[in-house]
Amino acid sequence: MDKILILDFGGQYNQLIARRVLEQQVYCELHHFRMPLEEIRRFDPIGIIFTGGPHSVYLPDAPKPDPGVFTLGVPILGICYGCQLLAQELGGLVTAAQEDSAREYGRTLTAFDTGCALFHGLPAESITWMSHGDYLARLPEGFRLAAHSAACPNAAVCDEARGFYGVQFHPEVEHTEYGREILRRFLREICGAAGDWTMEDFRRRTVAQLRAQVGEGRVLLALSGGVDSSVLAALLDEAVGERLTCVFVDHGLLRRNEADEVAAAFAGRALAFRRVDAGSRFLERLRGVTEPEEKRRIIGEEFICVLEAEAAAIGTADFLAQGTIYPDVIESGLGAGAISKAQYNDGGQPARVAFREILEPLRLLFKDEVRVLGRQLGLPETLVSRQPFPGPGLAIRVIGEVTAEKLAILREADAIFREEIARAGLERTASQYFAVLTDLRSVGVMGDGRSYDRAVVLRSVQSTDFMTADWSRLPYELLDRASVRIVNEVKGVNRVLYDITSKPPATIEWE
Ligand code: XMP
Repeated sequence: MDKILILDFGGQYNQLIARRVLEQQVYCELHHFRMPLEEIRRFDPIGIIFTGGPHSVYLPDAPKPDPGVFTLGVPILGICYGCQLLAQELGGLVTAAQEDSAREYGRTLTAFDTGCALFHGLPAESITWMSHGDYLARLPEGFRLAAHSAACPNAAVCDEARGFYGVQFHPEVEHTEYGREILRRFLREICGAAGDWTMEDFRRRTVAQLRAQVGEGRVLLALSGGVDSSVLAALLDEAVGERLTCVFVDHGLLRRNEADEVAAAFAGRALAFRRVDAGSRFLERLRGVTEPEEKRRIIGEEFICVLEAEAAAIGTADFLAQGTIYPDVIESGLGAGAISKAQYNDGGQPARVAFREILEPLRLLFKDEVRVLGRQLGLPETLVSRQPFPGPGLAIRVIGEVTAEKLAILREADAIFREEIARAGLERTASQYFAVLTDLRSVGVMGDGRSYDRAVVLRSVQSTDFMTADWSRLPYELLDRASVRIVNEVKGVNRVLYDITSKPPATIEWE
C-alpha cells in the first residue's frame, strides 16, 4: 500500500493536510517531527510532507527532523515552515522579512511556473493562502523558483532532480484555489501514488493498529447512541472484542425506541455491553433548569459522573475510546461552536477519569465515511444512517424546564413527524429534522370544548456541514398529515408550527 508520511511541526492546519491526502485516496499518517529515521524507514513512505509550524527555522530551538530524511530518495513537499526548513537544511538561507510588505498573510495572487511538476496544467496565476513572516533569502544548490507573488519572489521552490518541493502558501486550505490539485499532483505524479486506498483498507489497518496498541490492556467506550460512537464500538469490537467495555449511558433524553435499538445492535457481540438507565438521575439534576447552556453543562457533568462510577465498577481501564471525527477536530480548534459539543462528547471526559491513553481512531473521517465504515462493520441501517442528534438530546428540544411529561409529549410528536417524513420518502433528502416542544400554550377548540395546550414546532433543514442551513421546502401535504396526526394523537398539543428560518440568523436547534 502507498503511504505518505506527514511530519508534524505544529502548524494549525496539520490535520487538514492529512485529511486532504486521504481525500485523494492515499493512505497517510501524521507523526511527530522527531520520528526516528529507523522508524521512518520501517514506515516506508513513498513521499513525505513537512507541515507548517509557528517557529522560525533560523532560531536555535527550531524543530527539525532527522537529517537522514533528505537521503532516503523519497520526494518531500515542504509547506510554509516546512518549505523554509527544507531550504535551510539543504544549504539555503532563511531570514525574517525585513520589510513589513514582505510578510504575507491571507489571500495572495500567485504566479506559477507551470513547467514545475507540482503546477503542470494549472493556470499561470491564481489565489493562494499565505501565512508567513519569514522568507527564503538564498536557495540551496540545485533548487529553482517555481512560483512568486508581489511580495515574495519564492512562493514555491523545487529541485526536481531530487524530488524536493517547497511552497510558502497552504495548499491544504479551501482558499487556495488549486490547492487540491497541487496536492494531487504531488501525491499522484511526483510520488506515484495509485490513489486506490479504500475504507476496507482503513478498517483492516486500523484494526491491526488498535490490536497492537491495546495489547493486553482494557478499553472503555462511552456509547451515546449516535453514529460515531456506535461505529467506533463496532470497530473496537472487531479489533479487541472482549477487552472492550461499552458503557451506554441512556440519559433518558433519546428519541422514541432509540435506546433499545442501540442495545439491540450490540447484543451478541464479544464486547461487554453495559446499559445504564440513568434517566431519573438526569431528570433530577435538570429539575427547575431552564437556561440552555446550563442544561448542557449539567448533562455533560452528569454524564462524566455516570461514566466515572461505571469505570470504578469495571476496575481498571487503560484506554478511553472516543468517537471524535474530523469535523469535531476542526471545530474544537475553532472554539465557539465546539464548546457545547466539547462538554459532552470530547475534552470533558478524560479530565476526571484517569486513563493511560485516549483512542480516537475515527479522527480523520468525515461523517459519510464513518457511515460507510459502519455498514462494512455490519451495523443496522437504522443506526448507521441516523441523522445528527445533539449530545444533550431532547433536553434542548424541550424549551424551558425538562419534565418527564414534556419529554413524553415531544417523543410522540417527533416520532410522528419522522414517520411522515419516511412515508414521503424524504428521509435521505432532509439533512436533519425533528420536533421541538415550546413552552407556549394557546387556545384551541377540540370537539365541543376549549383547549389550552402546547404548541409543537416542526423543524427540517438542508445542510452539508451544519454550520449553515436552509429550511426544507417540505410538501404541504406532508406537513398537513404530520400536523393532523400530532394534534389528534398526542395529548397536550393543540397547535403545530413549521419553522421557516435559515441558519444564520437562527440556529438549527432551538436551544
Ligand atoms: P446549531 O443548533 O448550533 O446546531 O445550529 C448545529 C448542529 O450541532 C448539533 N448540536 C449539538 N450537538 N451537542 C452536540 O453534540 C450539542 O450541545 C449540540 N447543539 C447543537 C445540532 O443538532 C446540529 O446538527
